[in-house]
Amino acid sequence: LNHGASPLSAKVVGSFAYLTVKDRMPTIITKVIDSIHRNKNKFFEEYGEDGIEAEKRAISFLSKLRNEVQTDKPILELTDGLRDVDAWNQHLQRHQTVQGSKESVSWFKSPWLYVECYMYRRIQEAIWLNPPINEFDVFNEGKTQSFFESQQATIALCTFLETLKKDKDIPSKNLLFDNFIKLLQVSLWGNKCDLSISAGQENYQKDSPVEALPNLKPFVLVDDSHMVWAALTSSKSNTVSGKRVDIVLDNAGFELVTDLVLADFLVSFCLADEIHFHGKSFPWFVSDVTAKDFEWTIRQTMAANHKWMSKCGVQWKKYLKDGVWSYHDHPFWTLPHEFCDMAVDAPDLYTKLKGADLILFKGDLNYRKLTGDRDWDFTVSFDTVLRGFEPSPLCSLRTLKANVQVGLQPGQGERLTSQEPNWMTSGKYAVIQFHMPHVE
Ligand code: F6P
Ligand code: MG
Repeated sequence: LNHGASPLSAKVVGSFAYLTVKDRMPTIITKVIDSIHRNKNKFFEEYGEDGIEAEKRAISFLSKLRNEVQTDKPILELTDGLRDVDAWNQHLQRHQTVQGSKESVSWFKSPWLYVECYMYRRIQEAIWLNPPINEFDVFNEGKTQSFFESQQATIALCTFLETLKKDKDIPSKNLLFDNFIKLLQVSLWGNKCDLSISAGQENYQKDSPVEALPNLKPFVLVDDSHMVWAALTSSKSNTVSGKRVDIVLDNAGFELVTDLVLADFLVSFCLADEIHFHGKSFPWFVSDVTAKDFEWTIRQTMAANHKWMSKCGVQWKKYLKDGVWSYHDHPFWTLPHEFCDMAVDAPDLYTKLKGADLILFKGDLNYRKLTGDRDWDFTVSFDTVLRGFEPSPLCSLRTLKANVQVGLQPGQGERLTSQEPNWMTSGKYAVIQFHMPHVE
């Protein structure tokens, strides 16, 4: 647990972690309660009185949870007996040992990364402990809505991809590079929390996420995309079967579409032979992708009333059927651990990731876990903060939504702080940060 700079925590009054635990987390729990309540009639239709009873019990669990957060109660052991419970409870014990007394592990005093992850696991506990509604995804409505709201941008993106594929001429390396960079950036900005890239802003035309890119360039603080390209196009391959790219997914909705389009491009233009997508095994951080979201998104894309969009969906389904694409989940992704602990805490996953030629880590939470969500100096290198986590060449595609950022030029962070105090949490800035493992 002791890995360098100190972890971000709500202890620091006024910090983003503090505001999150104080305001944003209770609001999220309230929204979950509302979503369960809105589905009361559905539960009744499906399960009769048992459904209503489960709804009431889940809501009372969640109200208790919200109260624990708001009154800074100690973090409790999990009791639902499911497969990841031991890992959570051991983690809690480790924190208790480090901090010396049981009472000191609490919402406002402990590392933000840990308590925030724990909240999502407790929300899930409220669902799992309450059959028959234990399959209910409390965040489903938001995820599907965000997919439908970004329909125009999805159409534009699928049309862009299909137009590239239609061109019978083999693209020159330069053209391939240009288009790779475009789709990598689209996938990066797909992570922008407010999905504004998809909502049709006045600074670009026709809702096209690709046309918006030149205007967004100044906001990419670190851009290692050339190194990502070099890793992809180098002749060495980790796998016998060919090049494998792993995408550690973040959010459903438009971001997932941007990831699928990038993956399709990589395969269609022979930059990768195989793609492994990694998702979450239960609903997580409001909009993260689960297996159900993944399948649903591909089905919806296939069924779209637009030629190029549905063509993409059909192709994606075929990639999955043929094993060119595959979806994976692992309990480690929904634990609070920093990634530098993966080799010890989830050696099977670490070994699997070693088989990739490139791993793309999407989004802010993955960045927090890569860096340990710590108060690093802005100029510390990305390599340093990974603290030995280097299963394969890896790249973080992340818009900034938390107070951690490394690998900046001297003075760059300070300048941004003086110009825009909330530059680290607004989602307006982004990084494409690459790391190549050291040779053994
Ligand atoms: O807005 C802050 C936050 O809730 C962070 O706690 C978390 O890291 C992030 O949002 C989730 O963003 P992303 O979906 O990019 O991981
Ligand atoms: Mg997310």
